[in-house]
Amino acid sequence: MKQSKNTTSRRAFVKKIAASAAVLTTAGPAILTGKNEIQQFGLSRSPRFSANDQIQIALIGAGGMGVEDTKTALLVPGVQLVAVCDLYSGRLDDAKGRWGKDLFTTKDYREILGRSDIDAVIVATPDHWHMPISVEALNKGKGVYCEKPMVHNVSEGPAVVQAQQKSGKTFQVGSQGLSSLGNEKAKELYESGAIGQLIYAEGFWARNSPVGAWQYAIPKDASAETVDWDRYISNTNKRTFDPLRFFRWRNYRDYGTGVSGDLFVHLFSSLHFITSSMGPNKVMATGGLRYWKDGREVPDVLLGMFDYPEAKAHPAFNLSLRVNFVDGTSGSTYLRMVGSEGAMDVTWDDVFLRKNLTSDPMDAFMAEKGNEFDKALGERKRMLPPNEAHYKVEEGYKGAHFDHFTHFMSGIRSGSPVVEDAVFGYRAAAPALLCNDSYFEEKTVRWDPVGMKRM
Ligand SMILES: NC(=O)c1ccc[n+]([C@@H]2O[C@H](COP(=O)([O-])OP(=O)(O)OC[C@H]3O[C@@H](n4cnc5c(N)ncnc54)[C@H](O)[C@@H]3O)[C@@H](O)[C@H]2O)c1
Repeated sequence: MKQSKNTTSRRAFVKKIAASAAVLTTAGPAILTGKNEIQQFGLSRSPRFSANDQIQIALIGAGGMGVEDTKTALLVPGVQLVAVCDLYSGRLDDAKGRWGKDLFTTKDYREILGRSDIDAVIVATPDHWHMPISVEALNKGKGVYCEKPMVHNVSEGPAVVQAQQKSGKTFQVGSQGLSSLGNEKAKELYESGAIGQLIYAEGFWARNSPVGAWQYAIPKDASAETVDWDRYISNTNKRTFDPLRFFRWRNYRDYGTGVSGDLFVHLFSSLHFITSSMGPNKVMATGGLRYWKDGREVPDVLLGMFDYPEAKAHPAFNLSLRVNFVDGTSGSTYLRMVGSEGAMDVTWDDVFLRKNLTSDPMDAFMAEKGNEFDKALGERKRMLPPNEAHYKVEEGYKGAHFDHFTHFMSGIRSGSPVVEDAVFGYRAAAPALLCNDSYFEEKTVRWDPVGMKRM
């Protein structure tokens, strides 16, 4: 990239940041911290939504995430839970304990979809039920909040996209991170040229515990009496009742989508949101089952590499993603975007921006002065711009999950577009699912991110 363009983009960046800081910060002026100065900015959101009509929702899949989704949905003003569906009696008992004994519960999601008093459903089942339930719900005129990944197999995407378009109903996928202040700030910084030209991005997910590696507890009363096993496997391979396949479904390919469908998909969603990208055209994966050899069918270490072709929204760049479930350092997760002028570490709650100080000063006047002094005195030290800025959410921020549900409920109320509709959700899920295809087929997989087709 030419120097003059760099200088222009840096100026544009500084201008935009000054403007955006005025809108988004409430933490007062930047705090400069000395030599290695880090500028600190607060991120906050002013209330944009109000409760108009009551929205009646139902939960389908009342496990860990379904309960969290519902608790969060109920924080949005004017939302009421009227029914819960799950295939395990223990979950239905829990739901009544949590939300009231009069709550309607069932093991058949069709009983929920058939009710005219339900405006929207949360689909938080294992992945193999996302597509059939979402499509049926949309066809019945319900709004749908579908957990990620939107589909279990890349071939299922068009059915959801078409059902959303045909029904005109609100459909949102549950990669809540992209509704966060952190992701929004990263998008704004990226678009204002904060890191220059995007060259490379990387993401990582490290865990090191049985629960982190999906070895969940099996309830003592798990049996063919308490679990509707036949319904659970009715859209996949027939097998006899197996509690591991029900309660640890992520480990098995009939129901789950491995670490890439479970975790990479969050990173794709954030990256695509920040860069307005439609996705990669080349997917390569390798990895292995290194440690958690408990009968699972999916790797516990996965490395994915993705080529993003040049697009209207961004230059060509490379992405590398990793998941390691046997990581002695544990607990670290990040998404880093590296450009020609700096890099950003992006989370849902903050953005760490590092600028490259070896590039020319932003101020042309100072540069010219420097040249004059150079001539007269030899080399003169420069006034450097801040090399690091840390944008962090204000205390009390309700978080990405709440923001995501607020977007969803606004869509239901007013028909306004949601941030992660079926097309977006498909474009985020597809490279994650193709990563599995690449791993299991042991080959590079090609994808058309515009036409949304495996090549
Ligand atoms: N957005 C996030 O951060 C996030 C986090 C965790 C999980 N998730 C997603 O949420 C979904 C659920 O994950 P989880 O961790 O809650 O799993 P879980 O096993 O705790 O819960 C799944 C529940 O679905 C029920 N179920 C299975 N098939 C059903 C069917 N046909 N009809 C009704 N209920 C059915 C099960 O009985 C179980 O209670 C997954 O798609 C997962 O990828 C998203």
